[in-house]
Amino acid sequence: MVNIAIFASGSGSNAENISNYFKNKEGASVRLIISNKADAFVHKRAEVLGVKSVTFSKDDFEKTDLVLDCLRENQIDFIVLAGFLLKVPQNLIDAYPQRIVNIHPALLPKFGGKGMYGDNVHKAVVAARESESGITIHYINENYDEGNIIFQAKCEVLSDDTFQNVAEKVHQLEYLHFPPVIDSVIAELSKG
Ligand code: GRF
Repeated sequence: MVNIAIFASGSGSNAENISNYFKNKEGASVRLIISNKADAFVHKRAEVLGVKSVTFSKDDFEKTDLVLDCLRENQIDFIVLAGFLLKVPQNLIDAYPQRIVNIHPALLPKFGGKGMYGDNVHKAVVAARESESGITIHYINENYDEGNIIFQAKCEVLSDDTFQNVAEKVHQLEYLHFPPVIDSVIAELSKG
């Protein structure tokens, strides 16, 4: 059984979707949800899902091994970032090589990097008059949104789309694709 931890800083709709997907699947399960915000709605979702959730501060992440210790205590094998706004510290990257993936709500390398999260991304896509947007699922490294790309999916952006319209289309792609992509990455790892 591959034990997954999800890192989320906000609402956690992707965390919920991923947890539900693996509830009905053999081979992997979401064992832990970690947030850097004690009041993040993802904790409420975790409670309903029956998944353990914990909070660590920015300093905990960046200056201690508390998060790494927690992952090890919970026998975590794989980490999924789903709306996690901190940069992943080097101690976690070193401990989980090719075992940390992130989803970005745009077609990287465009519209990525520091500050490019949530609605900021969709506003930038609309302002740039892009004809398409989408999602990028990628491994993470020490820089925001720069790891090797695993998967991308696109949606059309119409000339009269608002950033909210774009956000909705992108969320639908996230819910459709993120869980099976995680599943296939884990299956590859399990082959050794
Ligand atoms: C999603 O749009 C995801 O692509 C981005 O952050 C958002 C998280 O939303 N990384 P939620 O917290 O999963 O609802």
